[in-house]
Amino acid sequence: MAKTEVAVIGTGWCGGIRAETLANSALVDALHICEIRPERLEEVRKLTNPATATLDYQEIVANPAISVVYISTTPEQTHYPIARDCLKAGKHVLLEKPIALEFWEADELIVLSQANKVKFTIGYSQRFNPKIAYAKKSIAEGKLGKVVNVMVSRHLSRNLGKKIANRVKLSPAAMESTHDLDFVFWLLDPAKPEKIYSQGAYGYMKDLNGSYDCMWSTVTMDDGTLVVVGGGWNLPPSYPNYCGTWIEITGTEGALILDDTARDHWLNTVAEGTQYPMSTMPGEHVDHVFAGQMGPETLHFLESVLLDRPAMVDPKHARMVMETYSAADLSAEIGEPVSLPLSNHSIAQLADLKAAE
Ligand SMILES: NC(=O)c1ccc[n+]([C@@H]2O[C@H](COP(=O)([O-])OP(=O)(O)OC[C@H]3O[C@@H](n4cnc5c(N)ncnc54)[C@H](O)[C@@H]3O)[C@@H](O)[C@H]2O)c1
Repeated sequence: MAKTEVAVIGTGWCGGIRAETLANSALVDALHICEIRPERLEEVRKLTNPATATLDYQEIVANPAISVVYISTTPEQTHYPIARDCLKAGKHVLLEKPIALEFWEADELIVLSQANKVKFTIGYSQRFNPKIAYAKKSIAEGKLGKVVNVMVSRHLSRNLGKKIANRVKLSPAAMESTHDLDFVFWLLDPAKPEKIYSQGAYGYMKDLNGSYDCMWSTVTMDDGTLVVVGGGWNLPPSYPNYCGTWIEITGTEGALILDDTARDHWLNTVAEGTQYPMSTMPGEHVDHVFAGQMGPETLHFLESVLLDRPAMVDPKHARMVMETYSAADLSAEIGEPVSLPLSNHSIAQLADLKAAE
């Protein structure tokens, strides 16, 4: 059986999930891990028994035996330099979203992967959510007819909003609705986003980093389909990293309503009150099963490398999503719709916004 040596750089929450998944896979000859926090490196080393564990990602880059790398670092500014070095060294790369913070960085990563003929994908894990996969299948089979409207409402608990807000100033559209924009554009392919109008509302997060508590965006696709995506991160603390999502897809021949709020399983304890376990965005290991999407996504990428199949997410698609949430940020700021793809004028306005921050 074909096998390979793999590495995970950044073994925090998501990287920890990826490392544990890979450590248990028969497709992995040897696992290598890298983490700049020594105590966390040690914790994950104990969990995964890797061949090597290092504090310096250049050791992963320099190791010719490693062919597949998962990059799960924060803050998000680290994505570009680490992905660039790995792609340059000829590694296949799965990079967590966001693909980059600047458009030129995303473009450079895509060009590098093409030049070195390696697979490069972005961790848009929701595509591995069975409910979203079912939506894709239903639409492809024509069950809904022509899709007319998609609505996604996603809310995270404020513990997670606070964690994200502490490390980087990115909006709920860029950090959260990014998943929804990705999978909705995937569902509606080959239609492309043509125009976006967004608004944000302030609340709990404003004092923490000046960000909106929630943003709602209306996207018009070039075939007239209407997409409405809302993302917020101000739910009261309950289950750690709780995420609840409600999705409505209507078409000329049918409708599909997806309840992804995890309210179908309820844990209520005297010590901690109401909780909805197995409700985080990446999902979690529950003994011998993985409840959620990041486990299967991790193995899918490895299989796509070993079997030379296309990775699930094309980085050019991730680049289109990046342009769309950047347009959402701009629209919310100027109070007007923004056309897509972005004009040079809009890109200049975005640069001004960043400079002002
Ligand atoms: N797909 C999903 O559902 C999902 C969910 C949450 C987060 N994410 C994304 O995954 C990424 C990781 O998020 P997280 O919540 O796991 O973050 P985290 O902060 O828990 O973990 C990131 C880790 O990277 C480490 N790190 C930073 N610089 C490093 C370097 N140079 N070398 C090695 N390690 C380094 C940090 O010490 C930290 O332990 C983020 O980009 C986030 O946007 C995706």
